[in-house]
Amino acid sequence: MSAQLRFVLLLLTVTVSQCWLFGDFLGIKEKELDELALWPLPQKIQSSAVSFKLSPGSFQITHAKQSSAGPSCSLLENAFRRYFEYIFGDLKRQEKSRKKAFDSDVVELQVWITSSDPECDGYPNLQTDESYQLSVDEPSAVLKAANVWGALRGLETFSQLVYEDNYGVNNINKTDVSDFPRFPHRGILLDSSRHFLSLKVILANLEAMAMNKFNVFHWHIVDDPSFPFMSRTFPELSQKGAYHPFTHVYTPSDVKMVIEFARMRGIRVIPEFDTPGHTQSWGNGMKDLLTPCFSGSSPSGSFGPVNPILNSSYEFMTQFFKEISTVFPDAYIHLGGDEVDFSCCVHVLLDIVTATKKGYMVWQEVFDNGVKLKSDTVVEVWIGNKMEEELQNVTGAGFTTILSAPWYLDWISYGQDWQRYYKVEPLNFPGQFLRLIFFPSTDTQKKLVIGGEACLWGEYVDATNLTPRLWPRASAVAERLWSDKSVTDVGNAYTRLAQHRCRMVKRGIPAEPLFVGHCRHEYKGL
Ligand SMILES: *[C@@H]1O[C@H](CO)[C@@H](O)[C@H](O)[C@H]1NC(C)=O
Ligand SMILES: *[C@@H]1O[C@H](CO)[C@@H](O)[C@H](O)[C@H]1NC(C)=O
Ligand SMILES: *[C@@H]1O[C@H](CO)[C@@H](O)[C@H](O)[C@H]1NC(C)=O
Repeated sequence: MSAQLRFVLLLLTVTVSQCWLFGDFLGIKEKELDELALWPLPQKIQSSAVSFKLSPGSFQITHAKQSSAGPSCSLLENAFRRYFEYIFGDLKRQEKSRKKAFDSDVVELQVWITSSDPECDGYPNLQTDESYQLSVDEPSAVLKAANVWGALRGLETFSQLVYEDNYGVNNINKTDVSDFPRFPHRGILLDSSRHFLSLKVILANLEAMAMNKFNVFHWHIVDDPSFPFMSRTFPELSQKGAYHPFTHVYTPSDVKMVIEFARMRGIRVIPEFDTPGHTQSWGNGMKDLLTPCFSGSSPSGSFGPVNPILNSSYEFMTQFFKEISTVFPDAYIHLGGDEVDFSCCVHVLLDIVTATKKGYMVWQEVFDNGVKLKSDTVVEVWIGNKMEEELQNVTGAGFTTILSAPWYLDWISYGQDWQRYYKVEPLNFPGQFLRLIFFPSTDTQKKLVIGGEACLWGEYVDATNLTPRLWPRASAVAERLWSDKSVTDVGNAYTRLAQHRCRMVKRGIPAEPLFVGHCRHEYKGL
């Protein structure tokens, strides 16, 4: 094909797809006002055309009388304040003085925790019940959940039900919501090794995650390029392995802050210490940890994975993971295990972590290479080609799995790639029917898929572009993992997501636009 012809064809393709997108967009815009902009869409919702007002002078979020949680539950107190601010934002100043209620007002949201232990001081885990029931009526709305984790999800939904009328007054319709997540593991992977990520940008993304009901922060904290995690036991690791020993590290108190900030939003923090490959930066601070490479019979000066021959490697790993297991409260540690030759030592590492009483997650290669895994291991499927077959194999062998292969958000392209992420159906893989008699049935296999993760690897990402690159593209994954399987209408998703993106912008998250349009409250820049 001549270059000219190719150019004309390219032009044609771009024009045609633009027309299609634009037509779609116009069709959607007309519906915009009477659609609810809930994201991710709740499992069950019934809304009516009866609307109430919500004013900052008279509205409050309170503990229900029957609730097992009270003012001493700082997690909820904190969330009440946060959602009050989200709802009223900059309206607060103008309207604060107006104490008089409207004729039909919702004056309070009562939060009712029903189980005897609200888990105020606990951590969310894989078994956490995140379900909630929300009933909005006059004069009181009631949010009912077994524990604080469900209440957090319900508070987000309540805040999303509130919409501004043409006079900038907050309205909410009479609504009943009954909601729970489809999958219990809904994660975001951020990579703080290829580029250092400031605490500020990490916390901002935990905020955005909560707005999208994500509940796992997979912190790919160290890797070949740098080792920013400051270890108390082995301070040389970050002193020599970080990009800078003081400015580009996460101190123990930084890490504590991330974990607590996440906890307050119902988010687990699962750190990944990728081994035995992807450990170049570890070698800077730990002499003899890595296998020296040879060219001919003399050392070439470069290093391979963790040296499996030396006992000192195992002694180091034992002490190191002992520390990690006390720093991170989650029951799981991610051990990586991707892109490495498995002829050596992975099973020893797994034993070391098992001894700390933690469970582990691993990348799929560990399973593919036939390493003996504990039955509670979570295998992360990330290789795109033959993804269905891999899910079939992993679950066929009885292992729990999460999916990230279709959701590598560091791969960017022109247009609305969120739609591609949105259209993925995680359970769309065949069971091992040929071996049905000896192996678990398809349904049993599908139950082993506990969720997925959107991954934003850091080759081309640092604090300057992380947030707009991640949001709202990751929101597509959030809805896929939370909402019912039948929620697949891309047009409807577009309408809601465009508004959800504006809502994130209004709350200070610089989420990029889906397409042509505007937000009532635009991002004002830094
Ligand atoms: C909310 O109520 C208003 C009228 O009060 C109605 O026009 C609108 O369609 C309702 N929205 C929903 C989602 O029910
Ligand atoms: C490593 O430890 C084992 C048992 O603890 C011991 O038998 C072996 O000699 C040690 N090897 C080296 C190279 O120190
Ligand atoms: C799945 O298992 C089969 C049988 O062991 C194997 O031949 C195939 O290569 C595996 N598929 C993948 C994607 O690893």
